[in-house]
Amino acid sequence: MWDSPHRFHLVEVSIPAIEQALDHLTQLDLDFLLLPGDLTQHGEPENHAWLADRLSCLPFPAYVIPGNHDIPHAFATDKSIGLKEFPHYYQKFGYSNPDQPYYTCEILPGVRLIGLNSNTFNAEGQQGHTGYLDPEQMAWLQQVLSEATGEVILVMVHHNVLEHLPRQSQNPMGQRYMLSNAPELLTLLRQANAQLLFTGHLHVQDIAQQGNLSEITTGSLVSYPHPYRVLEYRQEQQATTLQIESHHITDVPDFPNLSHHSREWMGDRSRSFMLKLLTQPPLNLPLETAEQYAPSLRYFWADIAKGDSQFYFPEFPPQLNQYFAQFGAITPSGNCEATVPNGAGKPIDNQAVLTLKDLEE
Ligand SMILES: [Fe+2]
Repeated sequence: MWDSPHRFHLVEVSIPAIEQALDHLTQLDLDFLLLPGDLTQHGEPENHAWLADRLSCLPFPAYVIPGNHDIPHAFATDKSIGLKEFPHYYQKFGYSNPDQPYYTCEILPGVRLIGLNSNTFNAEGQQGHTGYLDPEQMAWLQQVLSEATGEVILVMVHHNVLEHLPRQSQNPMGQRYMLSNAPELLTLLRQANAQLLFTGHLHVQDIAQQGNLSEITTGSLVSYPHPYRVLEYRQEQQATTLQIESHHITDVPDFPNLSHHSREWMGDRSRSFMLKLLTQPPLNLPLETAEQYAPSLRYFWADIAKGDSQFYFPEFPPQLNQYFAQFGAITPSGNCEATVPNGAGKPIDNQAVLTLKDLEE
């Protein structure tokens, strides 16, 4: 694995963390496992082969999709796989047709999983700056959804579809974590009454809601707070609910105090990122001023990643303090999490019970 000096990801814990998570998951009576992309650091063929092999040993089925880390370039090199190769590694994990980089399957009676590919490349094979679903995939999806009447639909896509940060789709730093054609996808999902989206990429714990749709984005096992989730879907007479429990890897043999270590690791690497946030729109602060404020924001991203955080920087001028307060899970003006009836006033990023709309309604 290429050791990038400024990497944000604590890749050293990758294997012990996933082993610990899988150990726990195999003790539960699970129906399936979803991995919404960023399965490897730089699309290394050895690492894809390792994961496919490991997933094949599980007592329950697993389904994957590609993240930007999994296919760094459209075409294979000696160091990384290309888009065409990805489905071949994961034929047992969703890609029964390895010639197509997206898939659908009925994973349980009446439950349909749709695995999308949001990686996009230019003619030279370089990755796009945002996620995108090409017209061919959109047409395929429309067809799949039109045939899925009466089924529970689960959609997995690597890039964010709903905003998880204030004005994420408007901000250049936030945009790159989103699908550039999210509105089109949302229209199709609403028409089909699809209510559950599973995403990654941002590597934070956040649940965003819009109308009947919930987007559950889950952090990464190689960055603070090293989370994974266990979900329980219940269809009862009174209501259909999705109970969400989040778990964290807090220690591995080489990092006995992983939570503390990786929070510091993220803090150590967040300065340039915070300077960007302060100097770019909408704040546009002069660099000198930004440098003054950056130390207070040392744990800002770690707290975002943890989910359910509130932000208050009394040392900042009121307007700046207000700006950062908006990133809190529950803001005075109310972001999406505070407006849903079952989440009113309660944090829902980590532990939650979401009430879903009945399909017949
Ligand atoms: Fe990603």
